[in-house]
Amino acid sequence: MEIDGKVAVVTGGGSGIGRAMCLALAEHGADIVAADLNLAGAEQTAEAVRKLGRKAVAVQCDVTVPAQIGEALAKARSEFGRLDIVCNNAGISNRTPLFEDESGEWVKTVDINLTAVIEGTRQAVRAMQEGRGGVIVNTASMGGLLPMPGSPVYAATKAGVVNFTRSLAYLAEEANIRVNAVCPSFTDTPLVREGGEDRMEEMAKQVGGILQPEDVAQGVVDLVEDDSRAGAIMRVTVRGGRDYAKEIRP
Ligand SMILES: NC(=O)c1ccc[n+]([C@@H]2O[C@H](COP(=O)([O-])OP(=O)(O)OC[C@H]3O[C@@H](n4cnc5c(N)ncnc54)[C@H](O)[C@@H]3O)[C@@H](O)[C@H]2O)c1
Repeated sequence: MEIDGKVAVVTGGGSGIGRAMCLALAEHGADIVAADLNLAGAEQTAEAVRKLGRKAVAVQCDVTVPAQIGEALAKARSEFGRLDIVCNNAGISNRTPLFEDESGEWVKTVDINLTAVIEGTRQAVRAMQEGRGGVIVNTASMGGLLPMPGSPVYAATKAGVVNFTRSLAYLAEEANIRVNAVCPSFTDTPLVREGGEDRMEEMAKQVGGILQPEDVAQGVVDLVEDDSRAGAIMRVTVRGGRDYAKEIRP
């Protein structure tokens, strides 16, 4: 898909990887709806997009509330007249050890990282079926392809996003809607920084280095622009560079 002149909605667009996605898509000519629980963050992103010469609007959106996802998607049409690209990117880490988690932190992780991605995709497909089709990019993780003994529920949510995405490859032919996912390895964002410098260094050693959010955003741009790979899952890693996992069709 040619990105120039298109309209994108990015959840979690107020920080980290989501903000980098908004800026990279805008650099390629898209207008942006930055949707985030943190409205101030989304507004900063929208301001940065406008400085690039594209239109942008910030929307407060809790992705665990289906009606708020709907409002963010509707904003694309009401402000900019179309909806072409949806990035279901909002997510949280889960550092509470599972067997000590008496407050149900793990349920919240599933709600945001998996359930909301399914609902976001469901609503985006419905909206795109009314239009010309489009591209949906879900943010999974290398933790969805490899075991994460320290964060098994996070790993489960991301593996869920990977196979959910692969299972929708058929929509490309049926409805001109391509659903892809990006699987970043360790990336320098507030989400990992909140774990502390020591953990950052330890993780960086384990995976061979730290990606910048812009590296992941470039992967998303490549996925959006590549018309041939329905259901493709892109790994973005420090050592391996960008790399499409094998396409699987249901
Ligand atoms: N940073 C990494 O190493 C890494 C690696 C692989 C995958 N990811 C994934 O990338 C995505 C973005 O993470 P990031 O590293 O940029 O983190 P981040 O914390 O910088 O950004 C996440 C954004 O999501 C928003 N958010 C959280 N809960 C929300 C909700 N309920 N509704 C709407 N917005 C909500 C936050 O306000 C924040 O702005 C996540 O899905 C994360 O799991 C991150």
